[in-house]
Amino acid sequence: MAPKVLVSRILPPQTQAKLLQQGFEMYQWQEDCAIPRNVLLEKVKGVDAIYCLFTERIDEELLEAAGPQLKVVATMSVGYDHIDVKAVKARNIKIGYTPGVLTDATADLTVLLTLGASRRIKEGIRAAEEGSWTTWGPTWLCGSQITNKTLGIVGMGRIGEAVAHRMKAFGVSHIVYSGRSRKATAEKNLNAEYVPFESLLTESDIIAVCCALTDETRDLFNYEAFKKMKKTAIFVNSARGGIVQQDDLGKVVDNTSNCYNSLDLCKVSQTVRALEENLIGAVGLDVTTPEPLPASHKLYTFPNCLILPHVGSATLETRENMAQMTLDNILAGLRDETLPFGI
Ligand code: DGY
Repeated sequence: MAPKVLVSRILPPQTQAKLLQQGFEMYQWQEDCAIPRNVLLEKVKGVDAIYCLFTERIDEELLEAAGPQLKVVATMSVGYDHIDVKAVKARNIKIGYTPGVLTDATADLTVLLTLGASRRIKEGIRAAEEGSWTTWGPTWLCGSQITNKTLGIVGMGRIGEAVAHRMKAFGVSHIVYSGRSRKATAEKNLNAEYVPFESLLTESDIIAVCCALTDETRDLFNYEAFKKMKKTAIFVNSARGGIVQQDDLGKVVDNTSNCYNSLDLCKVSQTVRALEENLIGAVGLDVTTPEPLPASHKLYTFPNCLILPHVGSATLETRENMAQMTLDNILAGLRDETLPFGI
């Protein structure tokens, strides 16, 4: 009998073609949006395998709805905070994910956000497109340089290390990191220094959040944390929105923007003053709470807050790799084998 598989989205083309050749008895959600919870709960009944994305919550309710024959849950993501791992493992169901293949794409995007935020790219694009670009000015749209800055990485895992390597090429002089444990390779190859979270906040010119969302890291960046940062700090999050208390971030960006807004940036003297007094701070986010962040959200209104719609891994090569790894996990799980990329 053909195995029953639920697939929660259309996959990138090459893997989608391979999926269709498997001869599964398959339910695949066909819309270009997350499968609604009620449809998921209905269609999961009796399946042997679930091929999901991080947009689907895999919890007791879903496992109960699926039934005792379920063998494997494979997510096309490296993050698995949407999966109740304890509940799944308690039922002896295997869990697969996609480590490694999205490191480069996500690190690239983290650097893009860092450069974009520090060089005020949002304001620059707006000025060009909206006609407020009048003339070249010695201090107009001046941001801050990466060279000789201290980079703080929160979570020196695969992605954190890849971000640090890239940023080293841009001239950062010192790399500090915090997290659960020391990382020998980062210390050896990057001369990175393991510091308490508090020190990372106060010392860093650029802070990149690269850790997983766990009970320990949820809301890690709250108002108290933001207050300890340098007023000039560039804060970038390409990990998970839940690591940041977003309302507190709003307050902080609000204060920083007031610094901008209280100065007429067209007046050279005041722009120089802003730079001299280090009033320039900026934020780059690829992840938010909720996702999508509604277009009416206040965070979009800040000129120094750059927001992207969770596209860290969005290169076709990476997405094909992620999709293929997830399919490999499903196939191994259905054969009762150890998953090639299991948790
Ligand atoms: C992941 O894989 O966890 C990303 O957030 C999406 O690529």
